[in-house]
Amino acid sequence: MTIFDLQKTSPLPSGETEILMGFLLKKEKEFILTHPELAVPKNIYQKYKKLEKERLAGWPIATLIGHKEFYGLNFFINKDVLVPRPETEIMVEEIINIIKNKQNKLILIDLGTGSGAIIISVAHESKKMFPGKYQKNIFRALDISLPALRIAKKNAILNKQAKKIKFLSGNLLEPLINKKDFNDFSNHELIIAANLPYLTPSQVKNSPSIKKEPKIALVAGPDGLKYYRELFKQLKEIKKVFRQDKSFSNRFKKPITLLCEIDPSQTKSIKILTQKYFPSAKLTIKKDLAQKNRLAIIKILD
Ligand SMILES: C[S@@+](CC[C@H](N)C(=O)[O-])C[C@H]1O[C@@H](n2cnc3c(N)ncnc32)[C@H](O)[C@@H]1O
Repeated sequence: MTIFDLQKTSPLPSGETEILMGFLLKKEKEFILTHPELAVPKNIYQKYKKLEKERLAGWPIATLIGHKEFYGLNFFINKDVLVPRPETEIMVEEIINIIKNKQNKLILIDLGTGSGAIIISVAHESKKMFPGKYQKNIFRALDISLPALRIAKKNAILNKQAKKIKFLSGNLLEPLINKKDFNDFSNHELIIAANLPYLTPSQVKNSPSIKKEPKIALVAGPDGLKYYRELFKQLKEIKKVFRQDKSFSNRFKKPITLLCEIDPSQTKSIKILTQKYFPSAKLTIKKDLAQKNRLAIIKILD
């Protein structure tokens, strides 16, 4: 059995045999592509057939080989985290732009961090581009899933950001809602990057390509907005409480920027939600590379 024989007989989509064989033989995909005559050892063939079966059962290729590239960096991936998507890179670009244009010190929160792709990419890029601001800015990564946080921490070590990013577990912003932690941020402007679950149960049911990814990373109630709705409510409550409490009267006087990745079908609903909770906020919708509405940027001014 050669690589060529495998390519000819495998039921996998084009390109995937090469990725799996590259992973098993510890070679680049390009090496596999240019060496079709290579004989495949029996033990490797058996491992390949096992991976092929798992792939056909719907496991993402990144989960099978254990890593994924995102924003030019390498990330460990396992069954506990969502595979970071190329469309999420626009969220990273927007945050880098915000950092570039702000003089205030920032606290950057990655809400629903999963593999840590967003915050680690932002931290890595801003260290390169704005070392002075990188020193002053604060980075926090939050997730309700402890297994996901374990992978995010490994990725922070892999990409040399472990000392800069603090990882916290809990429901949405709850890990930060204690006076001590917010105390540290009194002079910082808050930026929240939220790629929370935003799909409906039927969207997940009808998408075979995502059926093996963690449900906790995908489904968000009947209209897919359960977590964004809860987050808006939480944020409004935080602002209200802090405004009433004299010792916190300086908190959040500066604008808050909230970035939410959405499904294109939620454009109107996110506008309505923003209007309901933050009537004077400025909302901008950004498109992804496929020209679909993907990112809501909400600037909360009051
Ligand atoms: C769509 S994934 C995004 C992962 C990663 N940020 C990315 O862009 O690849 C959503 C993440 O939100 C987390 N999550 C779900 N419900 C949550 C909640 N109530 N509070 C905090 N995180 C939550 C999930 O565990 C998952 O890691």
